[in-house]
Amino acid sequence: MRNHTFIIVSNRLPINVARENGTLVFKPSSGGLATAMSSVGMDQDKMWLGWPGIASDDLTPAEKRRITRELRKYQCAPVFLTQQQVNDYYDGYANATIWPLFHYFQHHAIFNRDQWQAYKQVNQIFQKAVLRYTNPEATIWIHDYHLMLLPRMLKKELHNSSIGFFLHIPFPSYELFRLLPHRADLLKGLLGADLIGFHTYDYARHFSSSVQQVLGYESKMGVVTAGYRAVVTDVFPIGIDYQKFAEALHTPPVKEEMRRLKEHYIGQKLIISVDRLDYSKGIAERLEAFDAFLANHPAYHKKVSLLVIAVPSRTDVDAYRQLRDQIELAVARINGKYATVEWSPISYHFKNLPFEQIVALYAMADVALVTPLRDGMNLVAKEYVASKQQRPGVLILSEMTGAIHELPEAIPVNPHDKPSIAEALARALKLPVAQQKRALLGMQNRISHYSVTRWAHDFMQQLQRASAAAKELRRRTLSGATQQQLFNDYATAHNRLFLLDYDGTLRSYVRSPDAAEARPSPALRRLLARLAADPRNTVCIVSGRDRDTLHTWFGRLPVILIAEHGAWVYRNKQWAKTAASFNEYKHTLWKPLIEYAERTPGATIEEKDFSLVWHYRGVAPELAYVRNTNLKHDLRLLLNGTDIGIYEGNKIIEIKPSSIRKSIKASELIASLQPDFIMCAGDDYTDEDMFSVMPDSAWTIKVGPGASQAKHHINSVDDMITLLNRLA
Ligand code: UDP
Ligand code: G6P
Repeated sequence: MRNHTFIIVSNRLPINVARENGTLVFKPSSGGLATAMSSVGMDQDKMWLGWPGIASDDLTPAEKRRITRELRKYQCAPVFLTQQQVNDYYDGYANATIWPLFHYFQHHAIFNRDQWQAYKQVNQIFQKAVLRYTNPEATIWIHDYHLMLLPRMLKKELHNSSIGFFLHIPFPSYELFRLLPHRADLLKGLLGADLIGFHTYDYARHFSSSVQQVLGYESKMGVVTAGYRAVVTDVFPIGIDYQKFAEALHTPPVKEEMRRLKEHYIGQKLIISVDRLDYSKGIAERLEAFDAFLANHPAYHKKVSLLVIAVPSRTDVDAYRQLRDQIELAVARINGKYATVEWSPISYHFKNLPFEQIVALYAMADVALVTPLRDGMNLVAKEYVASKQQRPGVLILSEMTGAIHELPEAIPVNPHDKPSIAEALARALKLPVAQQKRALLGMQNRISHYSVTRWAHDFMQQLQRASAAAKELRRRTLSGATQQQLFNDYATAHNRLFLLDYDGTLRSYVRSPDAAEARPSPALRRLLARLAADPRNTVCIVSGRDRDTLHTWFGRLPVILIAEHGAWVYRNKQWAKTAASFNEYKHTLWKPLIEYAERTPGATIEEKDFSLVWHYRGVAPELAYVRNTNLKHDLRLLLNGTDIGIYEGNKIIEIKPSSIRKSIKASELIASLQPDFIMCAGDDYTDEDMFSVMPDSAWTIKVGPGASQAKHHINSVDDMITLLNRLA
C-alpha cells in the first residue's frame, strides 16, 4: 500500500459514488479534470487519490470497504470526508471562495474563517492519505484549486519526491487574487511543488505577479526563487483524448444515437450548448443572446433548435441553485415567447449524458455555442471539433476561455456582448460548408497532435527536469561528509582566508539597504570578531557597500574590508583607493536617474564613490520591469563607448566602471597571503566573479538557490551563519 511510485491527487475521482434508492452506484464523473485525467494511462503503479463524492457519515464501515475495493479496480483510492467537511471545504472554501474569485465573480465569493479552517484540515487529510500510499521518492501530481496547500504539506515530509501541481482553472490577475484573506498561505502552499502548471501564459503570468507582490519572491524565465528553493512554472494547455472521440463515431451506439438525432431534428439546424450548470459558463447570458437572435431573425423560427445540456453540478452551493432557477425561467420565458404548437426553440435537459450521447450530439450539431464568461480551458469546444471528423459544423467560442488560443479558427465572441453572439449565430448558420470544414480541419490538426496524453507526458517530463534541478541543488548543499571535510581542512590549515560577501550572505536582504535591519547584529559582529581573533585566520568582507558604511559597521574589528566591489580596500587601519575617478560620469548619469526615480514610486538611488545604484525592491514589479527596461536603454546610449558597465543584481541596477571587480582584489589577497585554506561565500553576480578566479582547492559557497560557479551551496543566510559559528 505504501509503495506507489506515481500518485495522482485530486478532489474528484474519475469514478463518483452516489446512493440511489438506498444502494451505492458507481458512475464516471463529469467535468474537465476527471474526463481528461481518466484517459491518462501511464504507470502500472499509479494510484489516484480523491474524494469519492459521497459523505462518510452516510456510509457504514462495510460500505466504506466496498467503495475502497471497487475503486481499486480503477487504480483509485478514496479519501473519505464527513458531511461537515464537504460543506465547508468543497461547497465552501473551494467552490464559494476560490472558484468564484478565480473566475472573476467577485460578487459570488464569500470569505468565511470556518471554511478556511476546513480547507486546511481537508488538505491535511489528503496529506495523510498520500503519505499512506506513497514511496518516499515518488512522483506526485496534485490537481486543482481544492488542494492548493497540499504541495507544501507534502514537500515538508517528502523531500526527495517530485511534486507537480496543475491548476485547471484560471489564475486571476493580482487585483482579484489580493482580495483573498489567505492569499499568502495559498501561494506558499503551491510553492511546495517543484513544477506548477497552468493552461495559458496569462494564468502563469498572473501567478508570478501575485507571488512577487504578495511574497516578494523574484520570478525570472519561469523560475520562482522561493526562499532556498527554485520552483518552475510553465504552460501546458490540456488536450482531449482525440482518438477516443474520432473512433467513437464508428461505434454502433453512437451511430444509432446520431440516426435518432437526425430524424428528430429533420428540417432544422441544431445548435448545442453543453456545460456543467455553472455561472462561469454564461448559460443564462447565452439564452438571452439566443432570444436576441430569434427576435432579429424571424426567418429562422421553426428552422433552428437550441439543445441545452446543463450537467448538475455543486447543487448544494447557493449560487448554483439560484442559477438553475434563473436558467429554467429563461428557457420557459423564451419558449413561451416563440414556441408554436409544433416547434419549441429550446430543449433543456438538466442531466449528465453518457459519453455516446455526447459524441453523437457533437457530431450532429450544426453549431456549438460555447460562451463561458470565464473558463480555464473548456474541453467541450475541443471535443466538438474532434467529433466532427469530415462533417461540417461551426464552433462559436468565447474569448474568455483558455481554449481560444488553440482554436483561433472558431468564431470568437465576447460572451458579455449578447447582440454580437446573436450575429455570430446568424453568421455561423450561413457559413458555406467548405469554409466550415476548412476551419475544422485547422483546429483538428492542432488538437489531434496535442492530445491529453501528450499534455500529461509533457508535464511529467518537465516535472522530472524541475525535480532533477532541485536534486542537483540538494546534492551540492554543504552537509554530511562534505561538511565534515570542510571542518577537517579548516582544522589542519595554518593560514586561512575568508572572503565573505555581506548582503545576502551574512545578512538577509531587506526592503531598503539603509534600513535598520540591514545592519549587522551584535551577534554577527561577535561571530566575525571570534573568527578573526584566531591568528591563523584572515577575515575579509568583500562587499558592494560604500566604505563609510563598512567602516561604521566593521571598522573596529580586526578584519580586511573591501568596499564598492574592490574600489576601496581597508587594511592595517587605512583605506586605500584602487580605482580611477568616476565623477565625470556621475554628472551625466545623475539627471536621468533622478528623473526616473521621481516618476517611479518606491525607487531610490544610492550614490557611492565609484558607482550609482538604482534600487527597485520597493517598486511594483510590473512597473519596475518597464522602468528598468527603459532606464537600461537610456543608460546604454549615454555610456556607449565608455568602460562603464550596467550590472543587474538583487533588485538593483548598478552602474560602475567594468574594471572594478571583486575578483581582482580577491586574487591580489590570495597572491599576497598564500593561504592554505580559502572559504569564499556569496550570493549574487558580483560573487560569481570571485568564484570564477578561486583556486580549485577553495571552498566556494553560493548562498541561496540558482545556478552558480561555486562548488557548494547553502540554503540560507541562517545556514551560513551556523556554519561560521561552528568554525569559530
Ligand atoms: N461532460 C460530461 N457529461 C455531460 C456533458 C459533458 O461528463 O453530460 C463532460 C464533457 O465531455 C467534458 C467535461 O464534461 O469533458 C466538461 O469539461 P470542460 O473543460 O468543458 O468544463 P468543466 O466542467 O471542467 O468546467
Ligand atoms: C472543473 C474543475 C475540476 C472539477 C470539475 C467538476 O473542471 O477544474 O476540478 O472536478 O470542474 O466539478 P466538481 O465540483 O463536480 O468536481
